[in-house]
Amino acid sequence: MAGSLRVGLVGVGQRGLQHVQSLVEMQSDEIVQLAALADPYPENLEDSKINRFVEGYSSANITMFDSADAMIESGLVDAIWFVIPPNQHKGEIERAAEREIAIFAEKPQSLYLEDIISQDAAITKAGVPSTVGFQMRHDRGYIDIHNYLSDKWVAAMTMIAEGAVEGHGVKHTRTEEQGGPSNRVWTANRAWSGTSIVEAGIHQTDIMRYWSDDDVEWVRATYTDRPAELHDTEGDNPIAYTVTYGMKKGGVANLLFTKPARSYYNGRFDYIIHTHGTIKLEDDFVDYTFEGDWPPAENPTLADVRKVVSPGPHYSAMGRDSTRGISQSFAESISENDPSKRLNSFNSSINSLASVLAANISNDLDGEKIVIDEFINDHKYAQYRKNPNR
Ligand SMILES: NC(=O)c1ccc[n+]([C@@H]2O[C@H](COP(=O)([O-])OP(=O)(O)OC[C@H]3O[C@@H](n4cnc5c(N)ncnc54)[C@H](O)[C@@H]3O)[C@@H](O)[C@H]2O)c1
Repeated sequence: MAGSLRVGLVGVGQRGLQHVQSLVEMQSDEIVQLAALADPYPENLEDSKINRFVEGYSSANITMFDSADAMIESGLVDAIWFVIPPNQHKGEIERAAEREIAIFAEKPQSLYLEDIISQDAAITKAGVPSTVGFQMRHDRGYIDIHNYLSDKWVAAMTMIAEGAVEGHGVKHTRTEEQGGPSNRVWTANRAWSGTSIVEAGIHQTDIMRYWSDDDVEWVRATYTDRPAELHDTEGDNPIAYTVTYGMKKGGVANLLFTKPARSYYNGRFDYIIHTHGTIKLEDDFVDYTFEGDWPPAENPTLADVRKVVSPGPHYSAMGRDSTRGISQSFAESISENDPSKRLNSFNSSINSLASVLAANISNDLDGEKIVIDEFINDHKYAQYRKNPNR
């Protein structure tokens, strides 16, 4: 038997299919009813295609729509997972909220701050439950770090994320028909992705906010552009990003993000410095901190000060477990009327998105320090908030 919460999903592409997998599992566990799917391209709704990606899928009780609005108007869903490219939003989130439909918005919620403010206003006015797809907040180890730091001041964090430009064949939007990249890898294209910091580095930005229970106050960024002659084949997003965030409680966070093409290397390095310790993500997540009277008569060994914050093994915080975790928490938060199960809301997530959008502005303005509150409110940044397509 399915659960009573009727869920619809808009955008059955790379990420949408991962969510359909979770929703199918949650339906088996009687947490939701997967009631509707929407996608403008009929092939993305065909059983034969979805079955290639989703174990245990059956379209038997699912109504198919070719647009989000048709789903919104149908009255068949209580909550919608929006999983479309960020430059494709055209007021659907607002119209769903007006219909009192709960909103799960994949990140980035849009590429334009004025759209995000409009989406937030509609969600707030309707008072519907909302969340943004920062699934790393639902990783067991990252939750342990967040809880461990809850009585500590975070002075500095650094995340280095070494990635690469994706290959063709991963994306499902027919970008070639909409003036986008011919190989469909829209994440490598600035007009579609808003840069890799906006599209992907937003996860690292958000998790640093979660760990430190803090918000970004200002941003400075410098990017290394990809040589222009490579734009046709590799996309026009920068190759490397150096971003510094000043946090409201006074700490500083660094995000170094790399996206060369032809590299298949994925790597990472993280540290979190709090007043009296260094947190490292080893096989266990550990804090190096001396808890006796300080200074000690003799320097302790590293083993003496190694304190396990979260025992391993730890798997990817971007994997299947946390994807299921965020969807299940959101569904249960609605069914059980328990907002504490949501680890963010649309409104609380604006700081993460505004920060990565402000990183782009800072880079465009030669590394100018962009204060987030000014970016959101001040006339001097009005032109940067606008959606040029409206
Ligand atoms: N949280 C994560 O880990 C994660 C991972 C990947 C992607 N994402 C996000 O998910 C979103 C979708 O990315 P993707 O990788 O699945 O892209 P994709 O191109 O593979 O899939 C997008 C799907 O949306 C459909 N679509 C496009 N415009 C639409 C519209 N107006 N109405 C309805 N459907 C529409 C497309 O046909 C396609 O099937 C993006 O915001 C992306 O940043 C999040």
